[in-house]
Amino acid sequence: MTTARGDGLGRMRALAAALPDALETGYRSGREVAAPLSKQELRVAAVGMGGSGIAADLARGLVESESRASLTVVRSAHLPRGFGAGSEVLLVSYSGNTWETLAAYDMAGRAGARRTVITSGGTLLERAESDGVVALTVPPGLPPRSAVGYLLGGVLGLLDSVFPESLEGRLARVAAATRSRIATYARRRGPAAALAEKVGLRFPLIYAESSFLPLARRWKTQIEENAKRLAGFDEIPELLHNAIVGWDAVSSGDARRYAVLFLDWPGESPMVRTSIAYLERLLKGKGVVLGRVELPSDDRLEALVSGIALGDHVSLFLAERRGVDPYPVDAITRLKAAVGGTDRIHR
Ligand code: PA5
Repeated sequence: MTTARGDGLGRMRALAAALPDALETGYRSGREVAAPLSKQELRVAAVGMGGSGIAADLARGLVESESRASLTVVRSAHLPRGFGAGSEVLLVSYSGNTWETLAAYDMAGRAGARRTVITSGGTLLERAESDGVVALTVPPGLPPRSAVGYLLGGVLGLLDSVFPESLEGRLARVAAATRSRIATYARRRGPAAALAEKVGLRFPLIYAESSFLPLARRWKTQIEENAKRLAGFDEIPELLHNAIVGWDAVSSGDARRYAVLFLDWPGESPMVRTSIAYLERLLKGKGVVLGRVELPSDDRLEALVSGIALGDHVSLFLAERRGVDPYPVDAITRLKAAVGGTDRIHR
């Protein structure tokens, strides 16, 4: 008989494998509901928490490096000043019941911003429908973090017109390439299993260059929620101006308790490469376990999507090694029950 634990792992694996399909579906839905962006609306804010906020954040590197828009990602209830009339605010909440996102929805409305919601339902969808706000709906019934394909695809679809060329063909190629990589990532002798083996019981730290920082955060949060353990992430080159001092002071005995995974994108600048090599030498000398994760393409979108897939599989292998069910996130459920949500918001 299959245990509840086995079901959770199998379900999460199936959802991780469905990433490319979800990405394409989300993108198509985003394009369908997208309203044309005026010059002013090239200043876009996306508000979302946890598994929803990360989707907007993952889109940010691509939007900022390739499009004519800027995308500010907000992980709180407070929309920064300046996102008022003439700007576009995306409110991303998978459940549609996250109080921070609902409060920002109200704030954006009061400020006169044009709003678009991305959600599977809940209060956010109800409010959008009664306010005549455009809503991109994604399939319900998933853990929010497993909806990343729909949400990321949705954001990219909504913003497709700000790219010099539509992402349509590129996204289809990326989805196909990621599909075949996922088959490798899911293997017991594949790269995801090997990285999980390398991390073992050590404290994992994921390091990435600034524009791939959201990917490092995604790895960290997937390890936390799926494998039920703490993890960290940090930004290159910033960490070379602070964390390096901490590393320098770590004793060789303590250093062995850490595993550092570098997300390595082929498009990185020579200075970043030289800095990473320096840091690697320092950490290796201390006895820190190191892993170089070579993101598989110099196409930023492909590297990003394959990187999400690889990280998700690493986190699931870590969950399996620890014998925990990756599916439930009881601590978040308890927190939401304790602090309340939707009903505590006074409009
Ligand atoms: O992974 C999770 O379940 C959380 O991080 C949620 O995404 C977070 O609490 C926000 O909820 P929602 O995504 O429904 O807005």
